[in-house]
Amino acid sequence: MTADAKTIGVLNGPNLNLTGQREPDQYGSQSLDDIISDLRARAHERGFELQHCQSNAEHELIDAIHAAGRHATTGLIINAGAYTHTSIAIRDALLAVAVPFVEVHMSNVYARESFRHHSTLSDIAAGVIVGLGPQGYARALDALIEKAGG
Ligand code: DQA
Repeated sequence: MTADAKTIGVLNGPNLNLTGQREPDQYGSQSLDDIISDLRARAHERGFELQHCQSNAEHELIDAIHAAGRHATTGLIINAGAYTHTSIAIRDALLAVAVPFVEVHMSNVYARESFRHHSTLSDIAAGVIVGLGPQGYARALDALIEKAGG
């Protein structure tokens, strides 16, 4: 991910590439490409660029977080998928960069299995949005832009 000031980064973790096909009762029927393209249009309306990275590999998400730090990205929206519940490495990467982030989950993780109730990221996030489906990304974008004074 290469980014600059006035850029919001979006990171999507494992299996989120299957959004739209996978468990539509949890994640809806819109594809990730469509969600991101709507989000990009929303960012452009507010004068921001959007950089998106989806990866099923933990190290690629970590590399993208480091890149966001190097490029002074305004903020990150992160849905780390199942890594949310397990990854100390992603937490450490977010702690290592001075980039505010909003954690997003499309499903209401608190209404699901108990292992989804724990997040390694929530206590260091600027905010957490759960259960609003793809709209959660738009809410996170608005919050980060407002936080940046845009
Ligand atoms: C998710 C919730 C996680 O528990 C799950 O592993 C995902 C998606 C969500 O968007 O609701 O992959 O992050």
